[in-house]
Amino acid sequence: MPATKIGDKVIRVDAIEKARGEATYVCDMTLPDMQYAYMVRSTVPRGTIDAIHLPEMPEGYYFISAKDIPAQGKNELWMIAKDWRCFAEDYVLYVGETIGLVVGPDRSVLKRIKAQIKIDYEEQTPAVTIDDGIHCVGGPMFPEKNSNVMCELFCEKGRPMDEVFAEADEVFEETIETPYQEHVHLETNSAIADMEDGKFVFYASAQCPFYIRKSIAGLLDVPYDDIIIRQCTTGGAFGGKEHFPDVLCGALLVAENKIRKPIKMVFDREEDTQFSVKRHPSKCIYKTAVKDGKITGVYGHIYYNCGAYLSSSYVVLQRGVFHGNGVYTFDNTYLKGEGIGTNMFPSCAFRGFGAPQTLFAIETHLDHLAHHLGVDPLEFKMQYLAKKGDETTTNGHIIEEVKLPEMLDVITRESDYWRKAKEYKPGCGRGIGIALYNHGGAFTGNGEQAIIKAHARLVKTGDRVSIQVGSTEMGQGFKTSLRKICAATLGVSIDQIEYLDPDTSKVVDSGPTAASRSTMVVGRLVERAAQEMKERWSEGDFTTEVEYEHPDGYPWDQATFRGDAYLGYGWGVACVEVEVDKLTNEVKTLGVWSSHEIGKAIDELIVHGQINGGILQSLGYGSMEKLEVKGGRFKQKSMSDYVIPTSMDFPKQFYHIQENPYPWGPYGAKGMGELVFNGASAAYVDAVERALNCKFTSIPIPAEDIEEALKNV
Ligand code: MTE
Ligand code: MOS
Repeated sequence: MPATKIGDKVIRVDAIEKARGEATYVCDMTLPDMQYAYMVRSTVPRGTIDAIHLPEMPEGYYFISAKDIPAQGKNELWMIAKDWRCFAEDYVLYVGETIGLVVGPDRSVLKRIKAQIKIDYEEQTPAVTIDDGIHCVGGPMFPEKNSNVMCELFCEKGRPMDEVFAEADEVFEETIETPYQEHVHLETNSAIADMEDGKFVFYASAQCPFYIRKSIAGLLDVPYDDIIIRQCTTGGAFGGKEHFPDVLCGALLVAENKIRKPIKMVFDREEDTQFSVKRHPSKCIYKTAVKDGKITGVYGHIYYNCGAYLSSSYVVLQRGVFHGNGVYTFDNTYLKGEGIGTNMFPSCAFRGFGAPQTLFAIETHLDHLAHHLGVDPLEFKMQYLAKKGDETTTNGHIIEEVKLPEMLDVITRESDYWRKAKEYKPGCGRGIGIALYNHGGAFTGNGEQAIIKAHARLVKTGDRVSIQVGSTEMGQGFKTSLRKICAATLGVSIDQIEYLDPDTSKVVDSGPTAASRSTMVVGRLVERAAQEMKERWSEGDFTTEVEYEHPDGYPWDQATFRGDAYLGYGWGVACVEVEVDKLTNEVKTLGVWSSHEIGKAIDELIVHGQINGGILQSLGYGSMEKLEVKGGRFKQKSMSDYVIPTSMDFPKQFYHIQENPYPWGPYGAKGMGELVFNGASAAYVDAVERALNCKFTSIPIPAEDIEEALKNV
């Protein structure tokens, strides 16, 4: 077999089984004596539970609730904090909160039992929106603080903002809002609990098997090793299966402890849409000081709607704040973030992990400021592009060369931006928009070295090598990229490398599959382990294992949020051209162009797929994906009313990959799976604004909302 090289075009290792329908997802699995579970959830956003009335339970059917947690266990799931209750007991905090499970052998009987369960609530006024939360509608969620602020941070650079504002010719202020977004992973959330040799075994559709184990062990107060998580083929995740599988597996663990038979829980699409985590809605107040036509300082007050539990919000908010000045260097910045608790389903990770909200806000804000000053937005922004050595908002530095100027050359040429930007007069019905963005690689700050401490292990048997890591494939192509890195380093064929879906009892913990860190960080670990293995290749069968090492000289202080928040960034440019029908407000997208600096593409085909998908998802976020809330409930309930774009909605994209090898990534690669989401929505809105000569301060902007905006011009 010929040795695989990084530049080779390989067939995605999971392509055939997925295309043929042969891959095994959780819902395809049946174990002997299988029992099924459905969640019984809160139907009110805030209130006390006065009584739960259960119907007569037939033999072999159970209602599992907090009462079934043994005395030594605690009713809490451990994500960042331990605030998320596995089962709501005396009170509920949001619609969809788990109160119990009905478990038994026959699904139609279970559905009947579930429909017969009556719960008496004493309803209270919920806080639903960020503003509700800020004003503690219905009473503070944290009475000890007398507020709803769940988490907060700020970072500042340069001089005090009051001084900068006092000297300015004008302070341009805007409030920009972004909405909920639903992940719409094609496979809904699902898990199976079972027992094997006295241990609890889970099969789950999940990104982070080790997270689940840690999160749920406290429910029974058992050692981690008594719980085994096996990841199954995962049909898309996008951040939605980073912490949320804990919620399914935690409840199933309590049930399994009592029933001791295999129990399967698969959400249907309506449950998955209404009762799972979402992207954080945001409200960003930006105040930009301008003197002699130049920006002298940027102040941002950023609020994220966290919902009822913290889940990953504090980390999401940090990333949002650190990306709050976009790809620019301003002399003076002050960025403050507040995560607001509300009586909504907890928000969690979603591709971009907090960055898309603030990047949308700063890009749109700067576009508006440029129009206000009468200059071309791109020309205006180009004056402030970050460069190597520049001080970041957290008082660290940009460590790498920034290739945005080269990327802009490609994109403005391919899209003919400069000509079109001049020729399409404001409001003429045609517009071209452009957005710049970045994404800090891997976990923020000292996350990699202080918290995650990733490991990777390779096992050689004959001329075959097995990769043993906990990082997962969820559609992003990780399996293929990782096997390719390993094969290329060893100088063998990709077919000689094995990577099985992780099982926590068999692999080492390489950290969560999140923050686009897998190829970049875990791929590098595998490269190092393979280098070591190659040197000893002739020694027979053996194992190599390596641990993450952080390069010296890039300090970070988590207490003050000062230092190098990221060792490197992915960088992006997206350009969108639209034509708007002035009668119907329908937008036709004529062209989409993007360039991404990702260090080095490990597999160009996979990278191309990520770009196409990420940009389309971002265009959906900006244009049409509408998840509205009424009385603490999501109005859209399925894929027929929550509309995501298809290939029919947007044209074929032009893409460009900019190389700029990253010294600490495998073969120079950086993370890229989230970067590609971070900017197209702003480019789209910019294009529509120019076509109609109007201004949007929130997304999405489907035709009916464009109509509204035009009334206010
Ligand atoms: N692509 C597909 N097809 N499916 C997914 O679930 N998740 C995204 C992105 N691309 C996702 C995806 C998210 S949220 C992350 S964090 C990165 O992939 C993870 O990429 P990595 O393997 O580089 O860590
Ligand atoms: Mo991705 S949002 O970091 O799972």
